[in-house]
Amino acid sequence: MSQLPPPMASSAWAPTTVSTWSATPVPTTFPPLGEVVTVAHTKGGAGKTSLTFNLAYALSTCGAKVLVVDLDQQTGQSVFLGDAARPRIGEDQDVADVGAVLLGRAKFEDALIRDVHPNLDVLPADEVSMGIAGRQLADPWVRSRLVDILDSARADWDITLVDTPGHHSAVVTAALSGSSGAIVPMVPEAGPVNELPTILKTIRKTAEVSGRPDVYGIIKMRVWGNSSYRRLAEDEIRVVADRFEVPLFRNKIPEDAKFGEAHLVGLPVGAYLPSARSATAYRHVAYELIQRRGWRFPVPELL
Ligand SMILES: Nc1ncnc2c1ncn2[C@@H]1O[C@H](COP(=O)(O)OP(=O)(O)OP(=O)(O)O)[C@@H](O)[C@H]1O
Ligand SMILES: [Mg+2]
Repeated sequence: MSQLPPPMASSAWAPTTVSTWSATPVPTTFPPLGEVVTVAHTKGGAGKTSLTFNLAYALSTCGAKVLVVDLDQQTGQSVFLGDAARPRIGEDQDVADVGAVLLGRAKFEDALIRDVHPNLDVLPADEVSMGIAGRQLADPWVRSRLVDILDSARADWDITLVDTPGHHSAVVTAALSGSSGAIVPMVPEAGPVNELPTILKTIRKTAEVSGRPDVYGIIKMRVWGNSSYRRLAEDEIRVVADRFEVPLFRNKIPEDAKFGEAHLVGLPVGAYLPSARSATAYRHVAYELIQRRGWRFPVPELL
């Protein structure tokens, strides 16, 4: 008579099924990924700050340790800091922010706001201080400090996302020259679409001089309705993406009233209401970015 193997103790085995997949960060012993990605568009109001902070949040929930560096003197970023926001400080007082670090007046550690959300830290910008630093970013010394800051962030964070102002070219090119990747938010409307070749040329020119960054993708933002006007704009984005041979993300962020509510209370929409349409879309954009780049964080297959 054949001998059956002895039954396994129930605690020694558990089936792995799709339902056991979880986005909860798993502690790892990997060294940090060390990616620096600048979010850039030459047009104001194109969605840079929204994309930076909300994508950072979505990536952090995938288990990545994420840093946001705010280089926008308008401190648009601060509105996503919620309770972690520091009070605004007057012109005559020193403030520990990214501008002060760039000018050599503050230490990186003093300016850093840790744990704004689990896995998510922020180097904020103060309007006055970053305003001064921004005007000096054409100076090679200040510029090299920014590149040093971004390079040293690689040792401690998996992904550093850099928010840039829409208008200040010295800030944008300095950030790009210190980044491995660039992401371009794209609202499918005439103004931002017409500016798309300009920012792609700026990124290309920086890459010719500095050897970086690569364009990691164009991400469509604030998409709503299905008018012929919107479809024309989306077609034009596809044409420009093909001409410059850069990836256009399949996942896009819808226009969403819940996003506006979250913005008002200073939260990424994923932290405010994880079931909101735009929160789900941001998670999907994060999964797509992770899959396109082959980063090691476990995400569900969506593509
Ligand atoms: N998915 C969305 N649904 C609704 N509103 C949105 C969405 N995404 C962004 N917005 C709104 O669009 C506006 C402009 O976005 P944002 O501030 O991110 O642009 P920006 O490019 O950073 O602007 P600036 O050039 O001034 O820095 C904000 O009021 C923001 O709340
Ligand atoms: Mg902004």
